[in-house]
Amino acid sequence: MTPDLMEEGARRLAAYEARKAAAVNTESGGRSAAYGRIAKIGQPDFTQGVALYVDDISVSFDGFRALNKLSLAIDVGELRCIIGPNGAGKTTMMDCITGKTRPDSGKVSFGSTIDLLRLSEPEIAQIGIGRKFQKPTVYEDLSVFENLELALSGDRRVRASLFSRLSGEQLDRIGEVLGTIHLKGDAQRTAGLLSHGQKQWLEIGMLLMQDPKLLLLDEPVAGMTDEETERTAELFLSLEGKHSLVVVEHDMKFVDQLTQGRKTVTVLHEGSVLAEGLLSVVQNNEKVVEVYLGR
Ligand SMILES: Nc1ncnc2c1ncn2[C@@H]1O[C@H](COP(=O)(O)OP(=O)(O)OP(=O)(O)O)[C@@H](O)[C@H]1O
Ligand SMILES: [Mg+2]
Repeated sequence: MTPDLMEEGARRLAAYEARKAAAVNTESGGRSAAYGRIAKIGQPDFTQGVALYVDDISVSFDGFRALNKLSLAIDVGELRCIIGPNGAGKTTMMDCITGKTRPDSGKVSFGSTIDLLRLSEPEIAQIGIGRKFQKPTVYEDLSVFENLELALSGDRRVRASLFSRLSGEQLDRIGEVLGTIHLKGDAQRTAGLLSHGQKQWLEIGMLLMQDPKLLLLDEPVAGMTDEETERTAELFLSLEGKHSLVVVEHDMKFVDQLTQGRKTVTVLHEGSVLAEGLLSVVQNNEKVVEVYLGR
């Protein structure tokens, strides 16, 4: 190699290193910042078999205690349903896991090592926690396929990646997710034309594109037809084992279908766990009947 070529190579390398350092140091909380931090955070450790620990967390809003020393643990691959009356703190709990709300006290960890309270919302999403809000937020003007393609970038703000060339592996992944969410035949349809239930499935598919370890689903079947609700239960059951799922729902028939008579259900009330156990057992728990199911 000639000296001038070596010099040019060294110059480019220095410029590249400078760009990389600048990207890692951004305070934007953006994609590059998140990647930089994750290298430092390290990989979550699931060897203890636990995906999520919520440990004694409390949150107050203007003196009102929305969460009161709440503790629970979700196993790797577990599908856990969380039920409880309006205002029990179910959504606030998800807000604390995803970094939207910071608890006043307590701990939240992902696997046995990652302290989620030290990470930003984008970092938490990046590290493998996907969240589905009640209202579907798909890009209505794009096709089903394009929505999934966009989700591959891992950050919905990064629209520049749209319509970039996909690798064979990425195409396979989109095909696989289309099958999982029962939208294979609708890949080219405009998302805005889908039914409410199909939009919900598409949004779940968008989360799946990131292959999250843990999925948080807040009232996923609200507004769905009975048939859509049943298919959603089948979808979640097909995800169980591959991902951990935390499902908040008021629809007891749906919860019954998900728990199959053998899984633990957690009942929240006034920001704490009121009862935990099989649905058939908690349904007959006097306190649960009084505050929730008996109404
Ligand atoms: N940002 C906030 N500011 C003030 N109060 C809040 C805030 N977020 C939640 N709350 C209050 O905290 C309590 C718990 O609310 P949360 O939304 O977590 O309940 P939930 O169990 O999800 O209820 P639902 O079943 O109706 O969705 C409620 O009394 C709510 O009004
Ligand atoms: Mg809620």
